[in-house]
Order: sequence, then C-alpha cells, then structure tokens
Amino acid sequence: MRNLAVLFLPLILVAACNQNMEAVSTGERLEDAPRPAVSTAPPFALAADGEPEVPPFVKAFFMHTWVEALYSVPANGNPNPEWVSPLLDPVDGRVVCTDCHVSGLVDFSRIPKQRLPMVDDFENDHEFMAALMKKWVGRLNSTEFGARAKLADAVTCLTCHESNPDP
Ligand code: HEC
Ligand code: HEC
Repeated sequence: MRNLAVLFLPLILVAACNQNMEAVSTGERLEDAPRPAVSTAPPFALAADGEPEVPPFVKAFFMHTWVEALYSVPANGNPNPEWVSPLLDPVDGRVVCTDCHVSGLVDFSRIPKQRLPMVDDFENDHEFMAALMKKWVGRLNSTEFGARAKLADAVTCLTCHESNPDP
C-alpha cells in the first residue's frame, strides 16, 4: 500500500495542481461544477469542465485485465468463444505496460492490479469502458508503440468480445 501511494503521488499532485490552476483562471468553483456521472468519484477527480476524470488506479486495473486478455481467455462479459491469442508468442512475447507507457516519469510496470470498490462503478459504465478500450486498442495496433511488433495481426474488438461491444 505504501509503495502504491508513492507511485501515484506524482500523478495525483499533477492532477490537483492542474485543477487549481484551472480554478484560478476561470474563477469556477468546484462546488458549482455539475455532479460527476459516477457519484463515488472524489472531488479531486473532477476536471474543470465537469467531466468526470478517472483516478489512475482504476484505469490501471483495466489495463491489467486487457494485457492478460492478450494471452489468456478475456475476463469480459461475453468473451469470444473462439478466442485465440493474437500474440506471436503468448508465453515469452507478452505485451507489457511499458510497451505503451514510454514516459520515464512513472514506471507503469510497477502499478499493481487492485480491484478497489470504485473499479466496479466504472466497469459497469459502458460508455467509459468502450471509450477507454478504443484508445487502448488504437495504441496496441499503432506501429509507433512497441506492442504492435508482438501481434500476429491487428487486434479488433471482436478478438476478445463475442459480439460488437459498442454497436
Ligand atoms: C496497448 C497499449 C497499452 C498498454 C499495453 C498499457 N496501457 Fe495503460 N494506457 C493506455 C492508453 C491509450 C491510456 C490512456 C487512456 C485515456 O486517456 O483515458 C492508458 C492509461 C493508463 C493509466 C491512466 C493514466 C492517467 O494519467 O490517468 C494507467 C495508470 C495505466 N494506463 C496503467 C497501465 C498498466 C499498469 C499497464 C500494464 C498492466 C498498462 N497501462 C498497459 C495504453 C496502454
Ligand atoms: C485484448 C482483448 C480485448 C479487446 C481487443 C477488446 N476488449 Fe473490451 N474488454 C476486454 C476485457 C478483458 C474486459 C473486461 C474488463 C474488466 O472488467 O476488467 C472488457 C470489457 C469491455 C466492456 C465492458 C463490458 C464488458 O463486456 O465487460 C466494453 C463496453 C468493451 N470492453 C468494449 C470494447 C470495444 C469497443 C473494443 C474495441 C475497440 C474492445 N472492447 C476490445 C477485452 C478486450
């Protein structure tokens, strides 16, 4: 737990600073901002435009399940029954956090998988999940990042989902 706090402190501080700066520049007060869609989001996670911002550790949980879904049956609601690993080498050639997270500021490979209560709320937020997955799959397939070279073929939503998860 202590390690986790140390890891996320810079992220949280950055978020908090950004928010304060916004608040000063627009004169907007947090109390006046619309309620976030997910009511359990803490105040620091509220961006100045009122859109809920998701704490990094929640996204980290999903990142872990997706990386796992590249080498083992996906843990989503309706996994593709004919799922096969899209990796060239699902044992020794797995995608790792730092294939996509290349900034040296935070070592993403050290962020643990933790199912904290807030994870449940976002897991059931279809729009949030679909949007995050699109960004993630986009980066997975992009030759600008290290993960693409580990794939036998580009990944689509149907690699892991039985039916289109975002019709
Ligand atoms: C295929 C590329 C890819 C891989 C692999 C990946 N991520 Fe991510 N990650 C992303 C993208 C894209 C985002 C940005 C999502 C967004 O903007 O909402 C992100 C966002 C995050 C965030 C939120 C950062 C923030 O500032 O809010 C965390 C934390 C994170 N990833 C952790 C991990 C961890 C831990 C792993 C390894 C288990 C991992 N990621 C693997 C693509 C990836
Ligand atoms: C590499 C496998 C993989 C790919 C590719 C993938 N998903 Fe997922 N998806 C998952 C996993 C695993 C979960 C469950 C995450 C969790 O709850 O921890 C999930 C969950 C979801 C959910 C939440 C509902 C549910 O079934 O749990 C939505 C919505 C979703 N994905 C949309 C998409 C969309 C849209 C795409 C294509 C842009 C996509 N996914 C591509 C593995 C994948």
